[in-house]
Amino acid sequence: MLITTHREITRLRLFLAGIALLLALPRTMAQTPSVAATPPMGWNSWNHFARKIDDVTVRAQADAMVSSGMRDAGYVYINIDDTWEGERDAQGFIHSNEKFPDMKALADYVHGKGLKIGIYSTPGPKTCAKFEGSYGHEEQDAQTYAAWGIDYLKYDLCGLRDIMKSAESPEAAHKMMVNAYVKMRDALRKTGRPIVYSLCQYGNDAVWQWGASVGGNLWRTTGDIKDNYARMEQIGFSQAGLAKFAGPGHWNDPDMLEVGNGGMNADEYRTHMSLWAILAAPLLAGNDLTSMSPETIALLTNREVIAIDQDRAGKQGDRIRAEGPMEIWARTLADGSRAVGLFNRHPQPMEMQVDFRELGFKGAVKVRDIWAAKDLGLIQSSYQTSVPGHGVVLLRVLE
Ligand code: GLA
Repeated sequence: MLITTHREITRLRLFLAGIALLLALPRTMAQTPSVAATPPMGWNSWNHFARKIDDVTVRAQADAMVSSGMRDAGYVYINIDDTWEGERDAQGFIHSNEKFPDMKALADYVHGKGLKIGIYSTPGPKTCAKFEGSYGHEEQDAQTYAAWGIDYLKYDLCGLRDIMKSAESPEAAHKMMVNAYVKMRDALRKTGRPIVYSLCQYGNDAVWQWGASVGGNLWRTTGDIKDNYARMEQIGFSQAGLAKFAGPGHWNDPDMLEVGNGGMNADEYRTHMSLWAILAAPLLAGNDLTSMSPETIALLTNREVIAIDQDRAGKQGDRIRAEGPMEIWARTLADGSRAVGLFNRHPQPMEMQVDFRELGFKGAVKVRDIWAAKDLGLIQSSYQTSVPGHGVVLLRVLE
């Protein structure tokens, strides 16, 4: 049949374009996830404010994220954790409590700053702080979040654990949990709004093996962090072996940052930032952004550390070698260079040595000490340096 009219040609063109799009879609989606292509960066209310969080405080954090330069360094999400939840109305829709008079207006405010906003809930009837959970209201809650303009959901197992106790076997309890995470994934998808889906169930049942399959963009791999070196090191250094489970769109989450909360010294916070960057971990600041010292801002906004964390190849690093308290971790980056962390877990300074051939380099390498912001020049095979107690020397190495 001969196509004659202009309208028919246009129709044919649209039809062919549609087919081309359909054919290209699966590949495009595999290459660039719509959210969390790199580990999410932002701020979360819990570590510093816990229950003392409200609308005014969140707005002030958003303001400070911009004025401190954090937004320009890559921090995006302003995440409200537990205790925002109010009552459900007669139709079952959730409302925020008196601390948050108007969530939509708050979301608009945060968006107006060029930032995104996150919220928190649980698949159980009650959150960890005993506020209203999403149990039995998953679709309604997802719709409400989308209507408010929410961009990120942390979904914390909490109250579902009580219900899981009624399961007949550990396998049945596991299934209950997996189904609960799938249910909210589907509810979020149904809204059509891109929402980062953050699983929080403290690393139970090797979540890294199935977190991505239930739609998780990130999943907590451990229990809660605290603002002290012992807990931070326990969590951070226990991440060895998890690298293969992470990648663009789906990340291991060793919990939020404590930088700037005051419980660790500068060397310890440098360890925290460096290890999280090598781990391709989400960088969610957990301090009060309105009262940061220049030192805290420098720790959080070091561009070269952030570049390691946010490297587009999305390959999580791992432990290369441990000798007592001295550990060498490395991460391969998109340009072929490697980020190398010389970590000293001993409280006193230690001499540490790294042989670059052990990391797969064959010839001389160009080395930069990132925290010292110093090029160390061409190095033939190995490098020895003193590493502060509980501290790190973070290198970027290129052949
Ligand atoms: C759990 C989570 C924390 C925080 C609190 C809030 O403990 O692991 O990160 O969200 O609940 O109640």
